[in-house]
Order: sequence, then C-alpha cells, then structure tokens
Amino acid sequence: MTPVPEIRAALLAWYDRQARTLPWRMPPGAGTRPDPYRVWLSEVMLQQTTVPHATPYFLEFTARWPTVSDLAAVPDAELMAAWAGLGYYARARNLLACARVVAAGHGGVFPDTEAGLRALPGVGPYTAAAVAAIAFDRPANVVDGNVERVMARWFAVETPLPAAKPELTALAAGFVTDDRPGARHGDWAQALMDLGATICRPKSPACEACPVAFGCAARAGGDAATYPRKVRKADRPRRRGVAWVLRDAVGRVALVRRPDRGLLGGMLGLPTSDWSEAPDAAPPVAADWRALGQVEHVFTHFHLTLEVRLATADWPNALWTTPDEAARALPSVFRKALLLSSGRPGPRRAGRRSA
Ligand code: ADE
Repeated sequence: MTPVPEIRAALLAWYDRQARTLPWRMPPGAGTRPDPYRVWLSEVMLQQTTVPHATPYFLEFTARWPTVSDLAAVPDAELMAAWAGLGYYARARNLLACARVVAAGHGGVFPDTEAGLRALPGVGPYTAAAVAAIAFDRPANVVDGNVERVMARWFAVETPLPAAKPELTALAAGFVTDDRPGARHGDWAQALMDLGATICRPKSPACEACPVAFGCAARAGGDAATYPRKVRKADRPRRRGVAWVLRDAVGRVALVRRPDRGLLGGMLGLPTSDWSEAPDAAPPVAADWRALGQVEHVFTHFHLTLEVRLATADWPNALWTTPDEAARALPSVFRKALLLSSGRPGPRRAGRRSA
C-alpha cells in the first residue's frame, strides 16, 4: 500500500496545477483563506446539485447579500424566491435560520471548529467538515459522493453502497491524520473533490490522467469504472403507491409541499398515497379518477411502482401550478408521473450531484 504522505503530496501537487477556478475558492498558494460565509453558502448549495447549476445562484446571492448578516436580514419569502430552482426548500429555511444565529449569536462570525459549526441550525456533519477544512484549514474528513467513489476505487472496496458508507468514511479519514502546520487540509478536501469531479468520474474515469493512479487498487485490477459497487436494482425491496394528477378547470396541476422530514423532504410533489407494500389508495378529493398506468422509480433503498391517476376537480389544499412550472420544480419521480398524464416529453432539470 502506498504511504499516505506520498499520495497526499502527489494529489496536492496536481491540485496546485489543476485546481478548478470557482467563485467561492481561493486558488492554491494564495496564502489567504476564503470567506467562511462564502464557503458555507457554496457547500449548502452544492449539497444536492452540480457546480454549473449552483454557480449562478451563488453569484447572485453573494452580490445581493455580501455578508452573513446581510443574508440574515432577508425576509423569508424573498429568500425562498431567490432559492427557487435549487430544490430542497427545507434547506433554504435552514440556511436562513443558520445565518440568523451566526449574525445574532456569534456577531456575524462563523465558529472556526467542526464542533462549533455542527451546533448551528441545519449544519450537518458534511457541511461542518467542509467549512472547517476549507475556511479554517482544520483536519476535517470531508466525505461526499465524489470522495466515496475515489476511496471505493483506491481501495477496491467490494461492499456495495449504501452499506459501504462508514467504511469509505474511515478510509478517507486515514488521509486526514497529518496535523502539522502547512498540512493543507482545505486544499486536500478540495483536491479530492476536483479529482472526483474531473478525473475519477462516475462512468468514464480518466485513469491515464490521474495523479494518484499509482496507488489505486481498482486501476490495478483494470476495472475502476465498476466501483463503487452498488446494491443491484433487483435486490431492492419494492414499494407501491398512487400519485394523483389533479387538474383545475384551466389545466393547472395540484402540487403539495412534502413534509420537511423524510424522503424528498420539503420538496414539491404530487399528492400521493403512502409508499409501502399495501398503500392506502384513498384519493385526496372525490372526483372521477381515471387510471393512466404506472411509472417506475429507483430510490437508494427501494424500488417504487407508482400508479398514476388523473381527474379534474377543485381542491383547496393545492398549490396550483402550470404543467411547465411543475415539470421544472418536481423531483424526477413526480415528473415521470406528470409526463405520463401529459403524454409529452418535458424539460430536463440540472443533474444531481450524487444520489
Ligand atoms: N462540491 C461540493 N463542495 C465543493 C467545493 N467546495 N468545490 C467544488 N465542488 C464542490
């Protein structure tokens, strides 16, 4: 096994040459740390979407609200409107809650340790680690989907995801042990992210260009692209459910806001039954419901067969939305159901960073 210092040195040297220029970053060797507010904001935005999709939002947010105290003063509705298109409305609410705590409780200064950051509202282990490493150069283990993939390949981990997560996190931690001054923890975290995004890509890894291919067990086996192993789709349990596409007299579609906690928490959705082996198929409102067929969707932990039913009726609980707006705002499982009801292809949304 290649020693850790050798791998760190090779990856950091590559990062010095190849680091992506991103608006929340300081280039390697700049000698100054990036603004923790910008690092935090970028990490929250990037948790569920890609760098190209998040970047215009990041630029708009930081132009309108250059400091965390500026953000803290924004009315909820204004922030929600600016967030639209980034998904996960619950995350926007947490963003504001966190900004207000930092502004009011910490004098506008972010805590500079992982534990201090973790205590802020909505800041989970990933965000705390990322901000601690990138903004404060703390030896934090920053593990996202990219880093999991890199680790799964380096060590040819045979355990399938999602069960492999603790193992991959522990393997990544093995590279974050060196706490001497100048250890470059922030650059290490970002170098791994860049490696995962540009070289150690999910489908077509560019192993010939990889600065650390010499230490990679999957590369040695010639099958890097087959890692990380995943639970086979056929092995996932199947759940069933019903989605109701309810239209009003002018063709708008009834959407609901999903509960903050749970699958697709806080996102817009079609009204649905529970998703289980035997769902309760009582519709949200009495109407002349017509069965349209079913759509299939694979979640990390189960396979969903969703029956789609269509009717026209009024429903006071609905968020009435045009079909085009709905297709843009909905997570893909509901978009599939909506497409079945319209019989035409709809607009595609920006890619998710990791499932
Ligand atoms: N993805 C998540 N965080 C990132 C960052 N700081 N830089 C680039 N890609 C990222």
